[in-house]
Amino acid sequence: MLVLGIETSCDESAAALVEGGSKMLSNVVASQVDIHREYGGVVPEIAARAHVDEIVPVLGEALAGDARPDLVAVTVGPGLVGSLLVGVSVAKGLSWSWGIPMVAVNHVEAHAYAPVLEGRMPRYPFLALVVSGGHTLLAEISGVDDIEILGQTLDDALGEAYDKVARHLGLGYPGGPVIDEMSLEGDPAACEFPRPMMGSGDYNFSLSGLKTAVIRFTAAARGRGDDPPAEDVAASFQAAALEVVVHKTVRAARDRGLQDVVMGGGVACNRALRLMLGEACEEEGLELVYPSPGLCTDNAAMIAALGYLRYQAGHRAGLETDVYPNLRMGQDRHQVG
Ligand code: KG4
Ligand code: ZN
Repeated sequence: MLVLGIETSCDESAAALVEGGSKMLSNVVASQVDIHREYGGVVPEIAARAHVDEIVPVLGEALAGDARPDLVAVTVGPGLVGSLLVGVSVAKGLSWSWGIPMVAVNHVEAHAYAPVLEGRMPRYPFLALVVSGGHTLLAEISGVDDIEILGQTLDDALGEAYDKVARHLGLGYPGGPVIDEMSLEGDPAACEFPRPMMGSGDYNFSLSGLKTAVIRFTAAARGRGDDPPAEDVAASFQAAALEVVVHKTVRAARDRGLQDVVMGGGVACNRALRLMLGEACEEEGLELVYPSPGLCTDNAAMIAALGYLRYQAGHRAGLETDVYPNLRMGQDRHQVG
């Protein structure tokens, strides 16, 4: 079965063709990052308009001329309402005009299935850690329709904290890749930052206090005229944030008796996180799986991969399908279709 995936939930217009749920035939991503850079973050209305410009050329490239899919899988949430509407409208048009079924996909759930595209289908039940610009959560996934959120951020997402700290340090947008790079040259013990909610006993996160601590620390140091090297600040911030994420992830897997851990989302590209979580999982005898960087960040191949599994599980989305900007993982399966 040939599945066309369509993803427009945030600032990437993406389309992909996936055969049999796992074989990528094409995976096209048009990023708007250059458009949003001058604003230091994604501007919703500009994002929606850019999707309108980009989605048809992206689809044309993904379909490579005359490919005719058997199924359309589209992100219906969570995300920016105007952005989601572009992808869902196009998906409905294709489903209707080609007479093929459509399935609705939750973007955050799809991040947990990206490794399938590289031949690594995690074994149910598994622990999913999704860390991106919009999401930071831990969930137990026992099937496409059996998902339990164990914990999530109570304020900023991990990628958002990276982006805000980077903006404060004048490092540009998006901040994650720059901080990742700079941290290699810095001392992670140079600045003392808090490890928020490290011992909270639950699986939730809080990152906005850490971001504020970093901003206060550097502002005070600047005031005194002893600016610390940005590399040290970046490395210390990263160490504080990632220690909490790694600690809670391993504890969740241990407490719930889960053997396989899947990490996805843009921050899963981070080298320190890969290393730290890799070592912690190895110590605990856990199997850690994450995709290549290009499949960690937003893409439509992961939407097609999960769309295929949802289709196999009997889901169908009709032309009445709506968008759900605040869709939670595992929420409203029947409503979503
Ligand atoms: O999954 P994604 O492409 O979009 C969302 O769904 O949010 O993630 C984008 C986020 C941004 O906040 C970006 O700064 C972060 O992922 N990111 C990174 C790295 N690469 C991207 N954060 C830390 N280290 C990286 N190497
Ligand atoms: Zn994402």
